[in-house]
Amino acid sequence: MNTFKLFTFAFLLLVCNSQSIAQTATKTVWLDELDLSAATQGYGIPGKNKSLDGKAITIAGKTFERGFGTHAESSLLILLNGKASTFAAQVGIDDEIKGHEPAVEFKLVADGKNIWSSGIMRLGDAAKPCKVSLTGVQKLELVVTDGGNGNYYDHADWADARFEATGVTTFSTINPIPGIPYILTPPPSPLPKINSAAVFGVRPGSPFQFMVAATGDRPMKFSAKGLPKSLKIDAKTGLITGSISKSGTFNVALTATNAKGKATKNMRIVCGDKIALTPPMGWNSWNCFADQVSAEKVMRAADAMVKSGLVNHGWTYINIDDFWQNNRDSKDESIRGPFRDDVGNIIANSRFGDMKAVADYIHGLGLKAGLYSSPGPWTCGGCAGSYGYEKQDAQAYAGWGFDYLKYDWCSYGNVIDGLPDNDPYKVSSLSYKGGDELTTAIKPFQVMGDALKAQPRDIVYSLCQYGMSDVWKWGDAVGGSAWRTTNDITDTWTSVKNIALMQDPAAAWAKPGNWNDPDMLVLGTVGWGNPHPSKLRPDEQYLHFSLWCLFSSPLLIGCDMEKLDAFTLNLLSNDEVIAIDQDPLGKQATCLQTIGDVRVYVKELEDGSRAVGFCNFGLEIAELNYDDFSKLGIQGLTSVRDLWRQKDIASINSDKDALPLIIPAHGVVLYKFSPKK
Ligand code: GLA
Repeated sequence: MNTFKLFTFAFLLLVCNSQSIAQTATKTVWLDELDLSAATQGYGIPGKNKSLDGKAITIAGKTFERGFGTHAESSLLILLNGKASTFAAQVGIDDEIKGHEPAVEFKLVADGKNIWSSGIMRLGDAAKPCKVSLTGVQKLELVVTDGGNGNYYDHADWADARFEATGVTTFSTINPIPGIPYILTPPPSPLPKINSAAVFGVRPGSPFQFMVAATGDRPMKFSAKGLPKSLKIDAKTGLITGSISKSGTFNVALTATNAKGKATKNMRIVCGDKIALTPPMGWNSWNCFADQVSAEKVMRAADAMVKSGLVNHGWTYINIDDFWQNNRDSKDESIRGPFRDDVGNIIANSRFGDMKAVADYIHGLGLKAGLYSSPGPWTCGGCAGSYGYEKQDAQAYAGWGFDYLKYDWCSYGNVIDGLPDNDPYKVSSLSYKGGDELTTAIKPFQVMGDALKAQPRDIVYSLCQYGMSDVWKWGDAVGGSAWRTTNDITDTWTSVKNIALMQDPAAAWAKPGNWNDPDMLVLGTVGWGNPHPSKLRPDEQYLHFSLWCLFSSPLLIGCDMEKLDAFTLNLLSNDEVIAIDQDPLGKQATCLQTIGDVRVYVKELEDGSRAVGFCNFGLEIAELNYDDFSKLGIQGLTSVRDLWRQKDIASINSDKDALPLIIPAHGVVLYKFSPKK
């Protein structure tokens, strides 16, 4: 061998050797070195070497330099590809949450199998060591559950968390739910199509306002046959106004005509005690603007409701949430000032000024206006509430021309518990100590309900007390049109999933005029003053909207209306999906079957059809050859329509045929099953 060959041989030997060393070398890979942004969590953003609140990670008095601070329910999926031998960490609840009662459970799931659990951990528990072997594991999921008591204040830390890795220097993390938006709703046809609800309720003598919502090329001409004489329709806009003096039902045939054709639709006007005969649809300021709301922002949202074309799909209410009144604590001068005048009339803050002008502006667009208050002395945000001024406030709202009131429990707990009026709203506990629970819970809502009913205009009354004391059982009796069944929603999968899963117990109480309210929609640009695109993935958004429609929920858009993107607009303008929510029978879907992670929600419709949501709450795509139709109340020859795609997809004999279903992870297949004549 000459010198050159000898040198080449030695070099190759060296390369091979160093490669095999690299393949077997072990290295510590810290969890905080991975991309934590792939984590999904119940609140906030993942903390890298920080707690959820951005502080040093601290568990039971011990501080840790490294780790992942998160919030239940949390999931982080790591692709190990068999290259990690161990995972070790110290886990616990972060001390930053003192004064609350969080509970969580940390879990490790390796390739779908639970391999470690911390057991339930509470605030003050010493950090629990976790060390597991991971030989051969491809995918590891770090999970934090809510410990069984809801996820309030569940700030959870994976402290000192690290892998021993072989032959690699890092690992990838993934969010297994695809993130690319895709459009399902076909664009509206240029031909006229009437989309507004087929039933509308009004009280005798109240001002009547109903917009015939229709898609199709403009100009369009509207007419209505069978209207009571005291009502008239504006041929150009489709707005029906007037008032009906006596109770009764009127069957009306609506027509919309444009250059391309003509559409008709029958509707029932029911003049009686009940209003909101279908769930209210509109927008509310809270989920985007929170304490930053102003008259200007509200009026711009109303403009956008019209300009975006959403008004043509039945979206109607423009609701102002908290912070139109003056505030007790804020340093912002624009919301400081007297709460009431000398004779006790509520005063709007300087961002709003003339409330009648705001309501008039909204009405001028053919829309309706909503407002917010609390039965306690203070709203949840510390603005002036209605306690002691209920009648006067109801008169003010009616006088200004408002059509909707959200009435929010906050600080009423203090009234019962005898706490001082100026106690911060945070003390306005969801529970309260004094009195007989039910009487105490009902009373403040009855007082405002009576005051609203005494007004010469119809005001939709929306109770907001987070579902306490089974509100669905007595909400109707106090005049409520809708009532919240849950705590506040956020734009996370956990929040939407948990709210969805808790709706069934109240379902039987939903009916025309009375709706369970699982809180507002978290689609589009939301953020409670810190605007960002909803953290829900596209499939999660389809599931969220489909379920809220199946639930006959009030549909209140919570996003910045001026930032509607094509995907969100498409999601909010599917008339066949909206029609499920607005069905005049007014039933609420319940889950009739569970197959693995798939829950099958069924809603009966007025025409004898059934809307069925095959909802996949799992992380994997579900493929089913579905044939259990009798469980869903579906029999015989049936046509099947895909509502999101607005397409007939099959005609089946449901007694013997099967239907292939592919349901995206965290997604939905929403079909309407109609008996064939
Ligand atoms: C509570 C309600 C929210 C919102 C805020 C306003 O949290 O549940 O929907 O109205 O108060 O402060």
